[in-house]
Amino acid sequence: MTDTTEPTRSASGARTFELDRAHVFHSWSAQARLKPMVVERAEGSYFWDDAGRRYLDFSSQLVFTNIGHQHPAVVAAIRDQAERLCTVAPQHANDQRSEAARLIAELAPTGLEKVFFTNGGAEAIEHATRMARLHTGRHKVLAAYRSYHGATSTAINLTGDPRRWPSDTGSAGVVHFWGPFPYRSSFYSTTDEEECERALAHLQQVIAFEGPQTIAAIVLETVPGTAGIMPPPEGYLAGVRELCDRFGIVYIADEVMAGFGRTGRWFALDHWGVRPDLIAFAKGVTSGYVPLGGVVVSDEIAATFAERVYPGGLTYSGHPLACAAAVATITAMHEEGIVENADRIGREVLGPGLRQLADRHPVIGEVRGLGVFWALELVADRATREPLAPYGGTSPAMTELVSACLLRGLVPFTNYNRLHVVPPCTIGDEEAKEGLAALDDALATIGGHYTGG
Ligand SMILES: Cc1ncc(COP(=O)(O)O)c(C=O)c1O
Repeated sequence: MTDTTEPTRSASGARTFELDRAHVFHSWSAQARLKPMVVERAEGSYFWDDAGRRYLDFSSQLVFTNIGHQHPAVVAAIRDQAERLCTVAPQHANDQRSEAARLIAELAPTGLEKVFFTNGGAEAIEHATRMARLHTGRHKVLAAYRSYHGATSTAINLTGDPRRWPSDTGSAGVVHFWGPFPYRSSFYSTTDEEECERALAHLQQVIAFEGPQTIAAIVLETVPGTAGIMPPPEGYLAGVRELCDRFGIVYIADEVMAGFGRTGRWFALDHWGVRPDLIAFAKGVTSGYVPLGGVVVSDEIAATFAERVYPGGLTYSGHPLACAAAVATITAMHEEGIVENADRIGREVLGPGLRQLADRHPVIGEVRGLGVFWALELVADRATREPLAPYGGTSPAMTELVSACLLRGLVPFTNYNRLHVVPPCTIGDEEAKEGLAALDDALATIGGHYTGG
């Protein structure tokens, strides 16, 4: 049922909001326009605002609460570790760090046995890029348009979306290329096979014209996330691997968003059986309970730094609280079949449910995704594929859709003309159906923006 009454916020909520507006400087925002929701508690797939209103979290916050909110085993592990040993410097060894590294390396393809820990995803990308540059002795890095790799200097320059533009130095040693995206093909393809073949031919040409001997790495989200959740066509990642091998280029897989169960596999790479040289991870590794990221390093690149100093580090690399959270998260995911749940719910509930929504709402131009990682490509006209909001912008239709979802107690993730359905990997069938019903209702309210036949 739609609740349109104005909620009454708690006194503590009002104070939180007031202090936030007075003192907190938020990311990616014009500060004066912000009205952040005050979140007071959370459990599993839900969270509550300061007026006691419950929301089903179809965004996993920023696509990171892969095991849902407040998992008791992870909360207990963080509490226990805090009582035992809150922190140690990175040069010492620590039981939780050793165990977290072992567990993560065990999930990666054979031959990637070492883990360099960071505090988040962007730092993982920074360090992976630095390792690749030092390992190859080359400087240039290729990255895809329609990608996001983080907001630090190298990571934002690698990013292939408008968030890069204000920070684009034009001299970061980054060259962008087009990845595969059959729905909006840059190659005039009409099939997935054509898209794969042409995207690889294009990449090979970029390498040839940039000079293979100048290229240190190709950085690629296994499934581009914020940019639109586009699973690569069969053969594309194997083709990238082959090009890297042929030209001595390091393949860096960005699994920050797609990793740790999101696609219904531990790493999204597992769907396509490719072995990159470096894997950047973050988000789901601790479900965001304590910030953690890192790079899984191949034996070949680790060997480069066996006798040579790796020139990089972080005060909190492998922080015990974060590593304890990672150990507990990965253990809970193994023991409770959480990755398997993400896979099943995608195949049996979310995929079919979203396709049914597309049958009823012409504004849905395409449904794509896997696991608990889905995008609705919203269009004003199915024939022309005109996006419901321009690239890099928003529109009244998208704003109305988000409001309609929130009124129905559903929090989606939206970007330009897309709505992403990215709930926790732990979501149950009934919760997923509840979210789909709310989305169905919300989509009905914007039908008037469809201008197609
Ligand atoms: C694919 C990808 N890479 C890197 C990052 C950057 O991670 P962080 O925000 O933890 O620095 C993100 C964040 O959303 C991401 O989605």
